[in-house]
Amino acid sequence: MSTSKEKLVIFDTTLRDGEQSPGASMTRDEKVRIARALEVMKVDVIEAGFPVASPGDFESVKAVASVIKDSTVCALARALEKDISRAGEALKPAASARIHTFIATSPIHMQKKLRMSPDDVLAQAVRSVQQARQFTDNVEFSPEDAGRSETDFLCRVIEAVIDAGATTINIPDTVGYNIPHQFGDLIKTLIERVPNSDRAIFSVHCHNDLGLAVANSLSSVLNGARQVECTINGLGERAGNAALEEIVMAVRTRQDVFPCDTTLDTTQIMRCSKLVSGITGFSVQPNKAIVGANAFAHESGIHQDGVLKNRETYEIMRAQDVGWSANRIVLGKHSGRNAFRTRMKELNIEFASEQELNDTFSRFKDLADKKHEIYDEDLQALVADIGVTAEHEHYKLVSLKVCSETGETPNADMVLDIGGDEVNASADGGGPVDAAFRAIESVVNSETQLQLYSVNAITSGTDAQGEVTVRLEKGGRIVNGQGADTDIVLASAYAYLNALNKMLQSDPRAHPQRGDV
Ligand code: KIV
Ligand code: ZN
Repeated sequence: MSTSKEKLVIFDTTLRDGEQSPGASMTRDEKVRIARALEVMKVDVIEAGFPVASPGDFESVKAVASVIKDSTVCALARALEKDISRAGEALKPAASARIHTFIATSPIHMQKKLRMSPDDVLAQAVRSVQQARQFTDNVEFSPEDAGRSETDFLCRVIEAVIDAGATTINIPDTVGYNIPHQFGDLIKTLIERVPNSDRAIFSVHCHNDLGLAVANSLSSVLNGARQVECTINGLGERAGNAALEEIVMAVRTRQDVFPCDTTLDTTQIMRCSKLVSGITGFSVQPNKAIVGANAFAHESGIHQDGVLKNRETYEIMRAQDVGWSANRIVLGKHSGRNAFRTRMKELNIEFASEQELNDTFSRFKDLADKKHEIYDEDLQALVADIGVTAEHEHYKLVSLKVCSETGETPNADMVLDIGGDEVNASADGGGPVDAAFRAIESVVNSETQLQLYSVNAITSGTDAQGEVTVRLEKGGRIVNGQGADTDIVLASAYAYLNALNKMLQSDPRAHPQRGDV
């Protein structure tokens, strides 16, 4: 970042708003892995969750706060005493902590959801900021649904919460209703009209219901916002939030337009994108800006010719600047434990114990027997389900045999280890994967509904590992299981069992914006 430029703070809310996308729930260990990757990317603030939602959310925020040293860790709290004290408690281990408290200010939310008068909303906002300041001097306040709030009232609330000690004022377009020029004007007006606006950083948080989250965020930056709230791959409630990678690369690429820049290490973008899509099972569309598989692919002959003569004829960014790299063979069958450990360290993958390292190394050896060239992506997949460690694994696959033949009904025979007992299972199915899932269900009877099944090739080549995501739902709880193997039926069985194991661990949780805590 050039020294003459102001800093644009990047506030990532993948672990909080991102996780509010139906189906994107993450375990504590998955959140820690994502938080570590965000820290390596030099994200300024990581919103780790909503601690009052459930004991699991509390533990996740605490775990992130305990391991992250270089980014500020933030916790969300409604403008309620119990929320703020839970947030403060969860953030205790953080090297740098922020509490983000919010209350709705639009007429429709105040009348219909909160059933409170504007004066009562203002008083509660002020009390909450004062309470949050008892835990940290880094307090963010959001007038929820600001995009549909009355400007005069917003100005009153913002002035009062800055006086009460809020250091960041975040203006959310909660329902994705705004249009870029209008939202930019709102930010400009607020900064101009609120008398103490110079004592806070103005931030924006845009939802993508009209596909305008990134445009609204960038328009706000041009009008004085110096923090943007965003998520990896644009994950988030309903149509999602502004995509971090699009905001950061727009600002970086168009330094002729923007008066500010981020301090992000953009070469980490792809790694974060893959990690989040792998964990949540929300795959990235091929034509998605920056991180889609086609974002830097030049299919048309004219384009290829131009790019070969001069890259800038058709490319405004370099693929390697956002972390795209050609698949590189990194390890093979003869690589030893030290080479394995070193490469994993270079990929920022750490093991909680020697046992975990040994287990993963032995899985690496099994993989190297089946697949001669091992890429970084293969190594990352090896640890994709590390969050469910051996002692949490109630269901394990011991062996699997599938028969699939033209004109015959596919059949799966397997042995499962269920809580230490070996159990045989067998079933027919529409295909080998269906037969494997039916065989598991014939002995587990989980009463879950399969919501999503997806397979992605991790690298190119027919010997590539297939990475499978299985999403299961039971009584409103949703979990994602992952599995990877060169044999996709095996990968599918691993993913299904991984999801069942997670279902046993997951806890019911509340939603911050629907008043159901
Ligand atoms: O969209 C929204 O308004 C939010 C707030 C909690 C900031 O996510
Ligand atoms: Zn939101």
